[in-house]
Amino acid sequence: MRILVVGGGAREDALTWKLAQSPSCSALFAAPGNAGTAGRATNWECSATDGKGLLARAQAEAIDLVVLGPEAAIAAGVGDRFRDAGVAVFGPNRSAGRLESSKVFAKRFMERHGVPTARARVVRSLDAARVALGDWRGGVVVKADGLAAGKGVVVCEDAAAAGAVLGQWYASNAVPGGGADVLLEERLSGREVSVFALCDGRAIVPLAAACDYKRAGNGDTGPNTGGMGAYSPAAGFPADLFDCVRERILGPVLRGLAAEGEEYVGVLYCGLMWTERGPAVIEFNARFGDPETQVLMPRVHGDFARLLKSVADGAMDLSLATLAREACVGVVLATEEYPQRSTPLHGLNPALDLADGCAAFWGTSRLNAGRVDAAGGRVLTVTALGDDLEAARLRAYRAVKEVAARVGTRALTYRTDIAAGTGGTFSPQEG
Ligand code: AMP
Ligand code: GLY
Repeated sequence: MRILVVGGGAREDALTWKLAQSPSCSALFAAPGNAGTAGRATNWECSATDGKGLLARAQAEAIDLVVLGPEAAIAAGVGDRFRDAGVAVFGPNRSAGRLESSKVFAKRFMERHGVPTARARVVRSLDAARVALGDWRGGVVVKADGLAAGKGVVVCEDAAAAGAVLGQWYASNAVPGGGADVLLEERLSGREVSVFALCDGRAIVPLAAACDYKRAGNGDTGPNTGGMGAYSPAAGFPADLFDCVRERILGPVLRGLAAEGEEYVGVLYCGLMWTERGPAVIEFNARFGDPETQVLMPRVHGDFARLLKSVADGAMDLSLATLAREACVGVVLATEEYPQRSTPLHGLNPALDLADGCAAFWGTSRLNAGRVDAAGGRVLTVTALGDDLEAARLRAYRAVKEVAARVGTRALTYRTDIAAGTGGTFSPQEG
């Protein structure tokens, strides 16, 4: 099977790493790929959102399966273009991808189909926001409607704080994502967990749970980022809770998609808040998470390429690949200015020589005369497997120290508390 992975971050590095190990994968391409994918795939100099360019190249290379990494590719209709041309795609069309690309669409969809989620109001102007916030009690989460690379959500203590955020956004015409619609959402409390479900258009099945760390600093302090680390499986999340997610969330989602004539093919990332009444959806993503993918791929055994192809073909066969019980922990090494600024780094060492069970995945980067130029921001995700979370965590941080010593720059920082103190359990309360 000849496979194209669209995207060029650490998620796509991890996806190509696993696909390259799949017995059925005979040729692998990445567009645009990065310094990591360059070692196992042919990188194409082509933007992840250039559907026309990608299709032309894919047809010339007789690609059998396209795997969509980033949300921007889905929102740009890259999936539609390939499907229309008869190429198998893992990843939804633009329309079903609105579950991620429009938070208003996703919220209304959940309301129509009884998917548990935080109550919300939609506003389009500061005046409307002031009215909506007039009698608001408790915390408010302010969410810009469109894709905003993690910058469109602000969690606020109260209505006054939310009003200040909205004042800034509307006054300077700077609602993240470029639209005008903003969702004002009830702030929920509980434990966060991400559940990854595979959907072939007919069935939807939970694959794994993971937890990620969005804040820049230890102890969940500092600004929001694209993600500073992750681990899987989710601590304190017993297998029977997948049944609860299936029943309360995935089932209604699938029935809702069918009722609305939407076909969803790919992975549905359910960002959940496990409240005292059970799970509530705080976001959907229409793709694998970053950095969650970097901790899921090392746990996959079997022919991952065939699994994704079976999903793309509408005939999902979960027996093709399984998930190890082992735990995996991933730590993101970022530049010191991240997330305020992305500072490029040049001349990094591509040969990080990690021990068995460990891996390092490059973020946005390219090989240049045998060295790595990183575009800045999240430079590497270092992962390790272990018999349990604690073993994986210790091993991951040993590997982080080795990478930090070998990579050829001291300008990288990382959180030291990924997967530490993961006590507590999720419980399926009656809603
Ligand atoms: P999102 O970009 O939608 O994933 O939101 C970023 C983060 O904001 C989430 O990981 C949560 O920590 C937080 N968040 C989003 N929605 C809510 C909510 N309704 N209640 C509490 N926290 C939320
Ligand atoms: N880890 C969060 C995301 O991929 O959106």
